[in-house]
This record gives sequence, structure tokens and C-alpha cells, in this order.
Amino acid sequence: MRSSKLRVAVFVFPCLLLAAAPEGAEIYKAHCASCHDAGLPRIPTREALKAFSPEIVNRALVSGAMRFQGSDVSVGERHAVAEFVTAKKFEPDAGAQGMCAATLSAKPGVVFSGALDGHLRAYSTKDGAILWDYDTVHDFETVTMVKAKGGSLDAAGPAVAGGMLFVNSGYGYFNAIPGNVLLAFSVDSR
Ligand code: HEC
Repeated sequence: MRSSKLRVAVFVFPCLLLAAAPEGAEIYKAHCASCHDAGLPRIPTREALKAFSPEIVNRALVSGAMRFQGSDVSVGERHAVAEFVTAKKFEPDAGAQGMCAATLSAKPGVVFSGALDGHLRAYSTKDGAILWDYDTVHDFETVTMVKAKGGSLDAAGPAVAGGMLFVNSGYGYFNAIPGNVLLAFSVDSR
């Protein structure tokens, strides 16, 4: 008797999880429609939002013009509403690998570029050749002895100062690789 009850509980639980999955139309009605269905100037209408890609809508909600509205909804709800307004499937990894997402930094002859695959690369400004490539996606012993790891490079680019190159690694937004390190390189890799 007891074991059959247990089995029922196990089967019911995943169904509840599915039922609780966020529904794009509902989220749109609750969080977006008051403005986007109001026919006000400057605000893209429901129809106009269809021209966007779900990734761009998601990005607007995370760090763009809609970041305050986006902060009211969960990650899952954000993806669901992005799919709903664009009527397209959200592909978080589309074209992300190796994309030079972070701001570029340059010094004479060299451009430093951090990419979402976690690599920090130095390119020649003469012919674009890769002069140096460092994979930041691994564990680090830090100066404070706190265990840390690198991840995707995005947002602020690497900084060059006093013969040193500084970069933060571990940009976990948009399904990129999370981490938590600030790395400092000297010119001769000390
Ligand atoms: C308080 C009113 C308001 C709400 C609520 C709102 N928006 Fe917006 N939205 C705007 C305005 C105003 C703009 C135009 C912003 C601009 O041009 O700078 C805009 C622009 C956008 C854009 C275009 C951004 C771009 O970079 O061009 C997207 C996509 C968007 N909204 C999606 C949403 C979604 C999805 C929601 C619900 C989660 C939402 N908005 C909720 C007012 C709102």
C-alpha cells in the first residue's frame, strides 16, 4: 500500500512542473501589454515586435531599453515572452561561440579581444593574425586563496595599464559560461 502511494507521488510531480511552465501570452498580458498594446508613439506594437529575434528581445529585457521591465520576470518567463512576441524559437546559443562580444582594447600593433568561448586573443593590427590566445575557462588559485574559475568574456573589454593586461572572466548572462575572476597578465606572462 505504502509503496503504491509513493509511486503515484513520483509520477504526479513532473506533471505539476509542466503545468507550472511560464506561458508567454500570460506574461505578455501581465507585464508588457499595458504599454505595447496602448498605441503610444515610440513603443513597438505587438505586430512590430514580430520583426525582432527572440535573442534581441531577451537582450533588451536583460540589459537594454527594457531592463527595468525585464527585472520583474524570471529567466524562464523572459525566454517565454521573447518567443511569444516574436513567434520564433529562442536559441540562446545561436552563433555565440567564438563571438567577440566584449569591448575591444588596443595598444600599438595589437588588439585584445575577449570572446564568449572564454578565450582572450591578441590580434595583429597589420594583418589580423592571432599573436596570442589564452583560454580563461579553468580553475584559478587566487591571491585571496578563494577558489575561482573563468568563463565567458563579455561587457567591459580587457584593460591595458602599466605594462599589465587586466580582464574579468565569467560573464554568465545569456547562457554564457559563468565565472568570477579578475585576471592580470604581465607582458612576459609572469
Ligand atoms: C512601462 C511601459 C512598458 C512596458 C511595461 C514594457 N515596455 Fe517594452 N518598450 C517601452 C518603450 C517606451 C519602448 C521604446 C524604448 C525606446 O525607444 O527607447 C519599448 C521598447 C521595447 C522593445 C524594443 C527595444 C529596442 O532595443 O529597440 C522591446 C523588444 C520591448 N519593448 C519588449 C517588451 C517586453 C517583452 C515587455 C514585457 C516583459 C515590455 N517591453 C514591457 C515601454 C514598455
